[in-house]
Amino acid sequence: MTIFSLTEAELRQRRSLKWQTYDADVLPLWVAEMDSAMLPAVRASLDAALDHGDTGYPFGDDYADAYRASAAARWGLDLAAQQVRRGGDVMNAVLCVLEATTNPGDGIVITTPVYPPFWQVTNGYRRHTVPVALTAEGRLDLDALAAAFAEPDVTAFLLCSPHNPTGTVHTAQELTAVAELCVAHGVQLVVDEIHAWLIDPGTTFVPTLAVPAAQRAVVVTSAGKSWNLAAFKAGLYIAGSEADGAVRRLPPLALQSTGHLGAIAHTAALRHGQDWVDQASAEIAAHKRLLTDLLHALLPGARYRAEPGTYLAWVDCTRLGLEDPYAHFLTAGRVAFSPGRNFSPEHRQWVRINLAASPTMITRAVERMAASLRLAA
Ligand SMILES: Cc1ncc(COP(=O)(O)O)c(C=O)c1O
Repeated sequence: MTIFSLTEAELRQRRSLKWQTYDADVLPLWVAEMDSAMLPAVRASLDAALDHGDTGYPFGDDYADAYRASAAARWGLDLAAQQVRRGGDVMNAVLCVLEATTNPGDGIVITTPVYPPFWQVTNGYRRHTVPVALTAEGRLDLDALAAAFAEPDVTAFLLCSPHNPTGTVHTAQELTAVAELCVAHGVQLVVDEIHAWLIDPGTTFVPTLAVPAAQRAVVVTSAGKSWNLAAFKAGLYIAGSEADGAVRRLPPLALQSTGHLGAIAHTAALRHGQDWVDQASAEIAAHKRLLTDLLHALLPGARYRAEPGTYLAWVDCTRLGLEDPYAHFLTAGRVAFSPGRNFSPEHRQWVRINLAASPTMITRAVERMAASLRLAA
């Protein structure tokens, strides 16, 4: 039994953003929700809580401990109990860390194209965004980052690891170089590792805090993406061994906004869902190969380079000659992707395709893309 095997009719019962935003004849392969059934152990943990009317406030360190156990087993990362603390959702945690470690007027570096809320969280709170483009291969541009960090107003770097939307998995060398640059320039490193468990077989994810030079970093994460638990708000702050000061500056509320059911669901996923996420990752790797083959056969003008992280495909449609690929595929193809312009103003010709869908859905989506091009011709 595969994880991504729910039928379209089953999925259309969902009331979530992915399935409700567009008309019923549009195939939605956009926002980062997974078309997977719930991991049975998560369901059982929530059922037990609901059976007892256990809908109050969270207590204790179960969630943090479950993360520490997963990090140790999966990545050999040993974290002390006091390094891991509970928070609200991941973007809230990012905001709280940035507010605690930077001042109004400061510049915060992000590497673009990037998950759209990275722009909002650096730009909307009396700080400003300092975008630094990834290289054409989707890697961190160390020279450009060094130049940005040297700017006097820049005080923080918000890194996405693995990177959304490209799927880039940063290497230990890259993370070391970035961490050393941050230390040299007095820049606070903040890393969002929410996609860390979803990695193609054969590639190893390197957690930031496994890098000796990165011990001043603060990592934020949750089980929300890898086990499709966005409905259950919960997140974690993980302080490097030299970053306790940054976490101590967080406002107390930042550490108190975890939902009880969120902590229960994420804990169950981390404790009982390691095989599940490995199977999901293997299926997603196959979906990347499927997309590569389909694009090659049906839309040879589209450019896609599969990367090992997460379930998102970043596709360059420049050579298709469309004014607005996102709008074209939506209106003429009845298939919804995420528009590239939301990830950076320079990427209007790109779309992000969500591959946490069934092979049937992915195949139909590419067939619709191809059919829409024939209409446009
Ligand atoms: C990189 C990244 N961070 C954070 C989030 C959202 O996490 P949360 O719902 O916990 O704020 C997402 C969702 O797609 C994401 O891709």
